[in-house]
Amino acid sequence: MRANKANSADRQKRRSFLALFLAAADLQRYTKKETNGKNMKDKTAVITGATSGLGRATALQLAQKGAFVIIVARSNTKANEVIKEIEKAGGKGQFIISDLSSMKDTKEAAESIAKAVDRWDVLINNAGAYFPKYRVTSEGFESTLALNYLSPFLLTHHLIEQMEQTASEYGEVRIINISSVMHKDPINWDDLNYKETTYNSSSTYYQSKHLLTSFTYYLSRKLKETGITVNCIHPGFVKTALAQSDYPFPMNAIVPIVGFFIGESPEQAADTPVWLASSNEAKGINGEYVHHRKIKKSWPPTRDEDAQTRLFNVTQGMLGEWL
Ligand SMILES: NC(=O)c1ccc[n+]([C@@H]2O[C@H](COP(=O)([O-])OP(=O)(O)OC[C@H]3O[C@@H](n4cnc5c(N)ncnc54)[C@H](OP(=O)(O)O)[C@@H]3O)[C@@H](O)[C@H]2O)c1
Repeated sequence: MRANKANSADRQKRRSFLALFLAAADLQRYTKKETNGKNMKDKTAVITGATSGLGRATALQLAQKGAFVIIVARSNTKANEVIKEIEKAGGKGQFIISDLSSMKDTKEAAESIAKAVDRWDVLINNAGAYFPKYRVTSEGFESTLALNYLSPFLLTHHLIEQMEQTASEYGEVRIINISSVMHKDPINWDDLNYKETTYNSSSTYYQSKHLLTSFTYYLSRKLKETGITVNCIHPGFVKTALAQSDYPFPMNAIVPIVGFFIGESPEQAADTPVWLASSNEAKGINGEYVHHRKIKKSWPPTRDEDAQTRLFNVTQGMLGEWL
């Protein structure tokens, strides 16, 4: 039984790599040129994990479109550098320091954001990491689960009221979760934190993106009438620090090859989050899984509405004291 489960998970992972190669064949992806110029003027975008990679490129591009960008980051020095780059490019922004693997910090970050501005139009839950070794946060959560899923859930939860206000005043708010094609692993319902289960860094990462994708669909339905849209993105293979993580075999052999053939720069990959956050074309898209500006289908278990509801309730239970 265990072996069957492992084989099925391996098959899913191989399919994910195949999906990445197929994405490379999507040669039309740069032909859509709608950028709508400085269409983010007077708008605020909040983005987590914007000190490197995809988040940094997305923050810079949104600032160039006129958005006031609030970046949530754990390093003061790195955050300062990004704000300087934003200002150098003629944009405006500010940073909030938070270790997003901590729920206490995440909640405080939400409170700081609420104080910083009274309007925000875009929230991009981008911060994420791959943990080669089992790590538990000081609050008792497995680190991948905490950073890649629980923190976006909690940050969003604490910002929703103000986002509803922005949506009612200005017509819309867009929430974007950065997922991955690497989400095709079942949810380990009995042990989401991998306390009793043998730690597998890939499965844990895949699970975190599965959870984030399911949460996206659930929230998009819940907020349907509010003017807030919720979508997630599979960015493809992006040449970032995360892509150079210390992966176990066979991923350590496969990842550099995939990267060589189909890897995109963070600036190229930022096209989709920027488009989804700012374009007229993407207005009204809700509850979707998007890749290269196109709506795709995520793995069927992520679209199971009963499982989404169960997940939402389980997550609320886990986060009780921080909600
Ligand atoms: N690269 C890919 O091929 C790929 C593919 C699919 C999905 N993704 C997703 O894309 C998102 C961005 O990843 P990336 O590839 O751009 O990786 P990256 O360059 O490593 O960026 C990750 C960002 O998250 C921040 N971060 C990490 N741990 C944090 C913490 N505890 N508190 C606050 N911020 C934290 C990092 O901050 P520091 O600068 O301080 O480290 C950095 O700004 C992630 O959600 C990732 O899972 C990436």
